[in-house]
Amino acid sequence: MFVSDCQDPGLSAPSRNPFRPGFNRSPQLLAGRDEILGAARSALAEAASGTMPTSLMLVGSRGVGKTVLLREVADIAGQHYGSPRLRVEVTSPGSFVPHLLHEAALVEQTLGTTRPAGGLHAASATIRAGVAGVGAEVTLDRSAAPAFPDYYLIRDALARLAETLRTTGSPLVVTVDEAQVASRDDLSSFAAALQYGEEEDWPVVVVLAGLPSMRDPGRSVTYFERSNWYEVTSLDRSATIEALGVPAQQAGRPFEPAALQHLAERTGGYPYAVQLYGYHAWSVSEGHGRITLAHAQAAAGPANTQLEQGLYLSRWNQASRREQEYLAAVAAVIARGESATATSIAAQLGRAPKEVAVYRERLIAKGTLVTDGRQSAFTVPGMAGFVQRTAAAARRRGAGGDEEAARAIHSTQRGRRRPRPPDLGR
Ligand SMILES: Nc1ncnc2c1ncn2[C@@H]1O[C@H](COP(=O)(O)OP(=O)(O)OP(=O)(O)O)[C@@H](O)[C@H]1O
Ligand SMILES: [Mg+2]
Repeated sequence: MFVSDCQDPGLSAPSRNPFRPGFNRSPQLLAGRDEILGAARSALAEAASGTMPTSLMLVGSRGVGKTVLLREVADIAGQHYGSPRLRVEVTSPGSFVPHLLHEAALVEQTLGTTRPAGGLHAASATIRAGVAGVGAEVTLDRSAAPAFPDYYLIRDALARLAETLRTTGSPLVVTVDEAQVASRDDLSSFAAALQYGEEEDWPVVVVLAGLPSMRDPGRSVTYFERSNWYEVTSLDRSATIEALGVPAQQAGRPFEPAALQHLAERTGGYPYAVQLYGYHAWSVSEGHGRITLAHAQAAAGPANTQLEQGLYLSRWNQASRREQEYLAAVAAVIARGESATATSIAAQLGRAPKEVAVYRERLIAKGTLVTDGRQSAFTVPGMAGFVQRTAAAARRRGAGGDEEAARAIHSTQRGRRRPRPPDLGR
């Protein structure tokens, strides 16, 4: 029993949980993104009035909400202008151009203007026309593609769409997710095509999203350097409170103020954690009229279990042994209450800062660590403790410690009530 307003949970069916932990899952309330959405609205208005706006580049660590922002921009465009969306998620270097051409062909089909697109031939097609032309499905085969440089293929595909849309007043929204995976050559071809589009005033809004490694000098493409860059970060305190409080209030079970403050602190405003803790606070308060501090505290167990089994463990396993040593040093410095600068972390490792700088850079590029230019911190709140326990378990067990450590962590969870995970994250 948590509070006096308890009702008998057996009497009513469980309510729909208003929180959405999981990657690519749009939250019920997209909090704290007014600046980026304002910029997107301006870009859409510019494109609708016949000028191609500067593209938007959204950069942020894993789980901060880049993908849901791309979807939000496309939704706004769909609602206000009936715009179609050309959506690309880059899955491997070299996959970008075929994927973009494929998606362009889909949009073209739904707009009803299909012409042969850069050698792509519809092998079979099932069209499911959705709102504003989004939602077509078509299978294409690229076997007969002529050996044109990618620039021409992209330019011609987008030019055809631009031409069609110019007459309708609906700008095309092109979103590119996981842009850090695209090869530099692909980005250069895309950039050259967009530059051509600017000269031709295509009604096209381009929004890219990627990890902070997009900033690496080795990857830079001049055209995108001139994009409007936005840092997608964790939510500030008031946005965190809004992201937790509003969905719960709207779903009919508000948080008590102390519970909200507790979860805002606990999640550190990291959007994935906000959804995860909110989800569990809602679940444990089932049958009650309000979410109390006790409910919020009780959410920590299952939320943390999920973070450990999903996000923390996958980040740890994605790190090389040297990177894991670096992470353990960061965690040790933080645990001593010291500031985790490049110097103090290197000292913890018994090395010179220069010798270990490469691991720091790689971990920042992977989105596991963030830095304010001086101090490093874990992107996901609570990961420092996990790293300390995992590294200690690995040290005790010697070689092959990763698996042992993972087992040790899971064994501490044995016997706990295990909620059905909504999503284990990546
Ligand atoms: N502004 C926000 N307010 C509340 N919740 C959010 C917000 N942005 C994202 N979320 C939640 O955070 C989680 C992660 O979002 P998303 O998948 O868009 O992150 P991402 O940055 O694309 O991550 P990755 O780099 O791993 O692809 C989702 O559960 C989503 O609902
Ligand atoms: Mg994403």
